[in-house]
Amino acid sequence: MKKNRTVTQIINGNKTSDGDGVQLTRIIGSPELDMLDPFLLLDAFGSEKPLDYIGGFPPHPHRGFETVTYMLAGKMRHKDSAGNEGVIEPGGIQWMTAGKGIIHSEMPEQEQGLLAGLQLWVNLPASEKMTEPKYQEYDKQEVPIEQVDTGIEINVIAGKTRNGTLGIVNNDLIDPIYWHVKINENIEFNQDVPEGHNAFIYVIDGNISIGDEKAKKGQLAVISDGSQVNLQALDNSEFVLIAGKPLNEHVARGGPFVMNTKQEIYQAFADYKSGQLA
Ligand code: FE2
Repeated sequence: MKKNRTVTQIINGNKTSDGDGVQLTRIIGSPELDMLDPFLLLDAFGSEKPLDYIGGFPPHPHRGFETVTYMLAGKMRHKDSAGNEGVIEPGGIQWMTAGKGIIHSEMPEQEQGLLAGLQLWVNLPASEKMTEPKYQEYDKQEVPIEQVDTGIEINVIAGKTRNGTLGIVNNDLIDPIYWHVKINENIEFNQDVPEGHNAFIYVIDGNISIGDEKAKKGQLAVISDGSQVNLQALDNSEFVLIAGKPLNEHVARGGPFVMNTKQEIYQAFADYKSGQLA
């Protein structure tokens, strides 16, 4: 018996800036929604004004979780302390496991034009927080695309669709779904999302309805537990559907570090200061 997921909360997010003055909207990790286990943070950035993004995110550390960067427009250059470097282009995904520590910069690879994307922070369980850093990084061409029906296209970054298309990113810890969906007006979208997973939809463009609730461009809809998501596009729309198995562990945050205890956060700051983090 399938059980429909419904909307439990609509989040608008808070306009803020991070890095060197990058203007963004913080949607998860905000007063409205502190976290949605295992998701710690979701930032949406998007501007045609160079001053809103040109400063980028100069070198900074991370420990204890994963950062997932998905570009919608423009290009971002990534560089880290281990010598890894690359440019993420539109439709490209970078799923970075910071693990025990990485120091990286994320800088716009452009001086004008639209730069837009999403950054999601995914928690790691205690047993994996000090794992070796690693990357799963793919171009648009490498991400499977499923045409579900006339009027629906899914970029399957992670997770398996009802028709069996498997995403390119692997993560056994939270068994994630990360789908970028483009859907035409009046078309219905019906997909399975494993029961017990926390899930949300962030609307990139347009308007959708899920049960009795509506979500518009820039809004995030938290959805209840259940086995499937049924929604309808009220306009030509675009959204991401993201879901993952909750870790149910204590979360201690300290800026760019996310651990289980305050003590571990102090240790991360001490390791960073003494050059032992990465
Ligand atoms: Fe970062």
